[in-house]
Amino acid sequence: MKQLVIAIDGYSSCGKSTTAKAVAAALHYAYVDTGAMYRAVTLYLLEHHIPFDDLTQVEQALHTLQISFRRNRRTGRNEVFLDGVNREDDIRQMVISNSVSEVSIIPMVRHAMVAQQQRMGRKRGVVMDGRDIGTTVFPDAEVKVFMTADVDVRAQRRQAELAEKGEHVGLDVIAENLRKRDYLDSTRTESPLRRAADAVLLDTTHLVIDEQVDFVLERVSAALFAPHA
Ligand code: DC
Repeated sequence: MKQLVIAIDGYSSCGKSTTAKAVAAALHYAYVDTGAMYRAVTLYLLEHHIPFDDLTQVEQALHTLQISFRRNRRTGRNEVFLDGVNREDDIRQMVISNSVSEVSIIPMVRHAMVAQQQRMGRKRGVVMDGRDIGTTVFPDAEVKVFMTADVDVRAQRRQAELAEKGEHVGLDVIAENLRKRDYLDSTRTESPLRRAADAVLLDTTHLVIDEQVDFVLERVSAALFAPHA
């Protein structure tokens, strides 16, 4: 059967990665969490005390650091590795969420990440979630979904996720972080977050995960079995 690229973009904490993971599992496709890559770069710069505006050092870092994904056999989760070390939990902390939009605004960071993402999806058969997949990374993706949800609902979901990992953060702090990231992500000059003209809108405010997954799988069937497919 034809192998597709499925692009899932949208605002922070709308359930993009949960949906993308489940869709990839249902189709036996690879899954790439592109936000994790920007988070890994942010972690690297912070740990190496590299100021985000020191472009010489940032460029050097981009040549040196290595980001990869490996599947955890026990949990089935795809986890991010930075320079060969599992940093999945570290990149999800608030300290990274607070800085990641400033790092992902840097054009040379975007160019490096986009190039790696395009290599990862070159054989197709991939579900990729992020902010610019349908517009910049794979403008030719066969299925494009743009996800959104009410910011308070998103903050509640994010709070529950963090609490599960033992990080207890107030709702207002999380909502503020989401608003700030939405703003920075949508107003940056280099591949800003925006809905591609041919992306379908999915508002998850009142949906449960299964409904979100079914919505995307229906689009996949339509793309696979459309007369021109
Ligand atoms: O999906 P996430 O919340 O883990 O992403 C973290 C940040 O990374 C997000 O605020 C913006 C940036 N990002 C991006 O600029 N482009 C992408 N394709 C994915 C994420």
